[in-house]
Amino acid sequence: MAITFEKEKNIFHLRTPGTSYLFSIECGKVLQHIYYGAAIDDISGIEQLKAPGMGAGCEAMDADITPRSTDTMPQEYTFYGSSDLRTPAFHAVYEDGSTVTKAYYKSHKITNGKSGIPGLPSTYVENDSEAQTLEIELYDELKKLTIILKYSVYEEIDAICRSVSVINEGAPVNIKSVLSCSVDLCGENYDFVSLYGSWARERYIDRQPLIQGMQRVDSKRGSSSHYHSPFAAICSRDANEEYGDVYGFSFVYSGNFEVFAEVAPTHDTRICMGINSFNFNWLLGTGECFDAPEVVMVYSDKGFTAMSQTYHKLYRTRLCRGEYRDAPRPVLINNWEGTYFDFNEEKILNIARVAKSAGMELMVLDDGWFGKRNSDNCSLGDWYVNEEKLPNGICGLAEKIDAMGMKFGLWFEPEMVSPDSDLYRAHPDWCLHTAGRGRSLGRNQLILDLSREDVCDFIIETMSKHLTESKISYIKWDMNRNFSEAGSALLPPERQQEVAHRYMLGLYHVLSTLTNKFPHVLFEGCSAGGGRFDAGMLPYFTQVWTSDCSDAIERLSIQHGTSLVMPASTIGAHVSAVPNHQVGRITTLETRGNVCMGGQLGYELDLTKLSNDEIEEIRLQIETYKSLRDVVHKGDMYRLTSPFEGNNACWEYVSPNKETAVVIYSTKMFDFRKKSFRLRLKGLDENARYQARGGNFVGSGKVLMNVGIVVGDDKEFASKLMVFDRI
Ligand code: DGJ
Repeated sequence: MAITFEKEKNIFHLRTPGTSYLFSIECGKVLQHIYYGAAIDDISGIEQLKAPGMGAGCEAMDADITPRSTDTMPQEYTFYGSSDLRTPAFHAVYEDGSTVTKAYYKSHKITNGKSGIPGLPSTYVENDSEAQTLEIELYDELKKLTIILKYSVYEEIDAICRSVSVINEGAPVNIKSVLSCSVDLCGENYDFVSLYGSWARERYIDRQPLIQGMQRVDSKRGSSSHYHSPFAAICSRDANEEYGDVYGFSFVYSGNFEVFAEVAPTHDTRICMGINSFNFNWLLGTGECFDAPEVVMVYSDKGFTAMSQTYHKLYRTRLCRGEYRDAPRPVLINNWEGTYFDFNEEKILNIARVAKSAGMELMVLDDGWFGKRNSDNCSLGDWYVNEEKLPNGICGLAEKIDAMGMKFGLWFEPEMVSPDSDLYRAHPDWCLHTAGRGRSLGRNQLILDLSREDVCDFIIETMSKHLTESKISYIKWDMNRNFSEAGSALLPPERQQEVAHRYMLGLYHVLSTLTNKFPHVLFEGCSAGGGRFDAGMLPYFTQVWTSDCSDAIERLSIQHGTSLVMPASTIGAHVSAVPNHQVGRITTLETRGNVCMGGQLGYELDLTKLSNDEIEEIRLQIETYKSLRDVVHKGDMYRLTSPFEGNNACWEYVSPNKETAVVIYSTKMFDFRKKSFRLRLKGLDENARYQARGGNFVGSGKVLMNVGIVVGDDKEFASKLMVFDRI
């Protein structure tokens, strides 16, 4: 059983294959966190840890819990207003002006399976035997407020999925903060790992020792953003890829978020994650329920690789959905960096013809096919074809691509409107705005107010029309700016601080409607590159354009950081032209191709400008990729060397049966002093023998893993793709 309740000890025990999570009910009402770490089969003796005494200067909680103080007691979920004076997960203002919440244990139930969260994305099961769920009901009698803590535990995956629901049977209440998880870990000697970045530089890894007080990252930008990802890990100071304690927290949500670690003078560490409480206020009426999104917690006692492998497996198989979850995705050619806005039907068909000859399977037409859009300053919202560029319409172009034996894909930026558009002229109140204030533009555009039903319906109808009328097999869903003046014309004043979350609910509604209605269409997410590449997007977008930076060397860091949480199958990666359009660097086609093979390979350049030799090289690249993509996308990933720590990046992917290992090794700079070094592989069968594909190495798994192979920084920006097959 994955979840048990020991009645005599009042202890809940949540078990995954490799982890135990324990908490108890104290004095019949308060939940005390006991342990999160490596699996413990026999928990006898755990009682001795259950009752920390009062710390000096602490307030004792309610008379009947004396002498306990929740300020020193590790909590399971944390409320503002009583004796726990650390930063809480829950904070509300009641009708009488009070801010005290005392929600105590009332009941619990353990069920097989795992249900979804209304209106929100979440991990799922295909069969009830895959997971168990514990729901704990906490009740504030005075305010008639119920808080339900939900924990789902997978039978075969080391993940614990948490969420929180609030049900109000009392007077309307303003919820200021309702974070999805709160974990009080013993001790303070941890590092805080987060993923930060900017446009074209997403998800760089940052690691800092925790200090007394708060370490916090968040987004107030409306989407999860380029700046910080909704992920954090707390790890032991000595943790590395294969050693040490790592606690991962990943938020299945794409809007404003916060994650913080607070070290208290008691030398304990609290980690909370949820919807950002900054500028958040949810008015919960009588009889209403609020559901907070899911946090996926992963503990590993074997460092970061094991944590990432757990996220990869869970997200690839039980968060991503639809026909393309397991199926190989088409190798695509996208015209953006090839033509930008300057294209017509003939140019696109010419690119498609060359793409087809090189083995590409999908022609994607990017921005600029609609309205009068020849630059980024107009027409978003006017989703009717520009017949000067495409006289036969999208329908005609798609037919011609189809006749070539290729699939056709189309770019949209459905959440946006240009002030210079018919849509904006007809509905100036359809965008996010605040009455009486100027409307700040980002990339010359405004954001449609997806908290409104009519706006969501407009997007669904417009896109459905195109998807029904034309042979469209793929949609690139872009989103190119942050929120500003984030108000809604339809909501009353007391609900204006709900807009950011209502927007996300609207977006998820639109996305689930469209992806369910058009199950054969592959949807790829994009947000000025990787500005909204988070777990909340994966149920709709099985792959995401990872960054607008397509330079192979910059991509080493971007894809490396992204792989901390995201599986290779979700990482959209395109070979582009040189000199690279973002950084001006020149790299070989081989290096560009190899780096992109660590994700979903695509091409984004004008193929008609390449030589026959280059097209032939691309054809061979695609042939190789098609033979290896199953291993890369579904295998176990090992980050052998890090571009954040040294001069190269090396990623290894091992098929689940250890038959094949794909190694992608790329260097940043030429190093005269260290021309070659040994790279030790991981995850092979140590008793088997392996042969290098196309090379002359034959040797044992033990040799490959203990002695290693010799690789060299033979020149700047070089890269090698190596494949080892078991013989
Ligand atoms: C931003 C995306 O990240 C690019 O790939 C491209 O689609 C442009 N938008 C088009 O405007």
